[in-house]
Amino acid sequence: MKLDQAIEKRASIKKFSPKEPKIENIIEAIEAANRAPSPGNLSILRYIIIDDEETKNKIAEYTRQEFTKTAPFIVIVCSDPKDAIRFYDTRAETYVKHHVGAAVENFLLKITDLKLASCWVGAFSDTLKKELKIPDNINIEVILPVGYPAANQETKQKNKAKIYGKLFYNSFRNTFKTGREMVRRDDI
Ligand SMILES: Cc1cc2nc3c(=O)[nH]c(=O)nc-3n(C[C@H](O)[C@H](O)[C@H](O)COP(=O)(O)O)c2cc1C
Repeated sequence: MKLDQAIEKRASIKKFSPKEPKIENIIEAIEAANRAPSPGNLSILRYIIIDDEETKNKIAEYTRQEFTKTAPFIVIVCSDPKDAIRFYDTRAETYVKHHVGAAVENFLLKITDLKLASCWVGAFSDTLKKELKIPDNINIEVILPVGYPAANQETKQKNKAKIYGKLFYNSFRNTFKTGREMVRRDDI
């Protein structure tokens, strides 16, 4: 799939087919996540692949999002901020979050490329850590249920706000590129 197509096709899908994806595909998507830019190229993220029904039920409970357990796999993205804190001190927390965002978007684009579906789940109770035997120094960042989209599922990405009015040149709120053609177009 072309990059533009993957960017346009990526959507939050919450209804999954019972057809199980190959675990190799899940690992491919994690490899894509692992290629994301990272502060100082530090290896900050850890991933747990879950296919155990009992654990999936617990995740649905701790997220209060029942749809998560209908996916054949759930990937839990965790962070170990230790090295980031050592190198970047007060900036570490922000840097880790930025890295998570970059990695998760890579993951979601690869999932789209593989004709699979997922949804970024950021709302969960931290008590989930205990359930998954995650040590205190490791944080859960994002929960990613993964499967094939259900046959009757709308797989269209939600409409996005236009960048018009939010795109500035040289200083905030300056919507014109001085000395060049006017860029104030309604279709951007
Ligand atoms: C930080 C973050 C947290 C999110 N948390 C949840 C969540 O807990 N549950 C959920 O169903 N969707 C969650 N989403 C998905 C958004 O609702 C979704 O991306 C948004 O509605 C736009 O739809 P689209 O992904 O199809 O473009 C989250 C997205 C982000 C970026």
